[in-house]
Amino acid sequence: MPELNLVLLGPPGSGKGTQGERLNDDLRLPYYATGDILRGAVRDATELGKSAKEYMDRGDLVPDEVIVGVIAERIDSEEAKDGFILDGFPRTTPQAEALDAKLVELGRAVTAVLLIDVADEEVVRRLGGRRTCEAEGHVYHVEFNPPKVEGVCDVDGSPLIVRDDDQPDVIRRRLDTYHEKTEPLVSYYEGKGVLKRVDGERDPAQVTEELRGLLGSLRS
Ligand code: AP5
Repeated sequence: MPELNLVLLGPPGSGKGTQGERLNDDLRLPYYATGDILRGAVRDATELGKSAKEYMDRGDLVPDEVIVGVIAERIDSEEAKDGFILDGFPRTTPQAEALDAKLVELGRAVTAVLLIDVADEEVVRRLGGRRTCEAEGHVYHVEFNPPKVEGVCDVDGSPLIVRDDDQPDVIRRRLDTYHEKTEPLVSYYEGKGVLKRVDGERDPAQVTEELRGLLGSLRS
């Protein structure tokens, strides 16, 4: 089976986490979500968490040098030898170049970048109603994807919380940051011929089906 080195790209709230969880169940590849890694580090008050918190609370990106090493180490591990799913990385051109350099060093390359397209107004609607599992980061929405019991995670029974960066002014800032720093990666990966675009404004199940179709054709 050919290896699958996948990147999920899209604005905040486009559904990267929602779809990433489902692809992870399908593909059984290691799933590295930099937002989850950083929130875990903040919770555990590690050096990484301490240096990341102020940027995250403002809706800014943490510096490239803080995050690149975190991902490079995971990609270069035994568990990622058949591939991986990256969610939230790369987010800047220097991060994309660092990822390419690491993969070249390993004799590998990005197989596909799955861009989940969603307009800004929809992002604001989604993030305003998002609820996140405190323990493992499982994602819900009060209207579009409610848990079976209000305020409780279906998967592990943990309390559901509103993320610190899901406040209206921080959501706007994150969107601005996306357009300025991350959106240039669309043409970066188009130029490499690996970008696959999906319409993220449909039902989550329809988005999953399209992604599965794309991945099926990549694997065959
Ligand atoms: P991160 O956690 O990666 O945040 P993000 O990219 O802003 O993405 P989100 O987690 O907000 O959204 P998502 O696309 O995963 O959508 P979700 O599935 O939850 O990063 C947080 C912070 O960490 C950054 O701001 C930055 O400071 C730092 N950081 C992380 N990586 C970094 C890096 N590489 N470099 C520098 N800094 C970094 O869905 C959203 C909501 O919509 C949910 O409620 C969900 O239920 C609902 N939903 C999902 N799909 C649908 C659908 N199809 N229809 C209706 N509702 C839907």
